[in-house]
Amino acid sequence: MSTFAAAPTALIVHAHPEPRSFSTAQMTAAAQSLGAAGYRVDVLDLYADDWAPVLAREEFAPVEGPFKPQAEQLRAVEERTLDAAVRAHLDRLLAADLLVLSFPMWWFSLPAVLKGWVDRVFVMGGVFGGSHGLFGDAALAGKRAMLLFTTGGPSESFRPGGAFGPMDDFLFHIHRGMLEFVGYQVLEPVITYGPARMTDRERASALDAVRESVARVAADAGATVG
Ligand SMILES: Cc1cc2nc3c(=O)[nH]c(=O)nc-3n(C[C@H](O)[C@H](O)[C@H](O)COP(=O)(O)O)c2cc1C
Repeated sequence: MSTFAAAPTALIVHAHPEPRSFSTAQMTAAAQSLGAAGYRVDVLDLYADDWAPVLAREEFAPVEGPFKPQAEQLRAVEERTLDAAVRAHLDRLLAADLLVLSFPMWWFSLPAVLKGWVDRVFVMGGVFGGSHGLFGDAALAGKRAMLLFTTGGPSESFRPGGAFGPMDDFLFHIHRGMLEFVGYQVLEPVITYGPARMTDRERASALDAVRESVARVAADAGATVG
């Protein structure tokens, strides 16, 4: 008798308004690498899908008294009344073994559409809290997540003593505050610094580097950050 393990699933959540951007090319390269490594690749393209990033009271059942977003998320999970778009994305998130957030760095952080995706889809009661705990006891414990992004500034700017300071300082709120908080093991980020200043040839080799880095991530479950 033989047994077949199901292919692991990677969910790439991509946030760039321009399909011809380097960020989008980088996301496509990463998707190809993951596919070649045997992953089933699910891509959520937030701009293309016109994702609404604002967590608003209107997506929940009417409440008497003050609106408390996380309490309403928990209630909506328990009463199965989550907004249909949020529920669909949450199901795709829960089905994924690897989460890749793909974006250009904006203001040392995520573009608003992606931050809003986290606001709405990292639902209390769905991925943490309620019947789940936090960090190692949260719903996504045992799964992996990584950032795939571009910057405007060169790599020297993001080193200790550089103009902006250490990159890890900017990533802490995402790595610890979002990804580890809901249980993920966080992998080393894949970063392309300053694609806008690259020649076509440099961009092509930067995309090759992305493919190689993502292939290593796909092969190596141990490459986690600090
Ligand atoms: C609103 C906005 C904010 C930005 N903030 C930063 C920043 O904080 N640090 C940085 O290095 N680049 C910043 N940039 C530059 C982008 O990161 C850069 O243009 C992008 O990563 C290049 O990739 P792309 O060609 O795929 O857009 C910002 C760009 C925009 C539009």
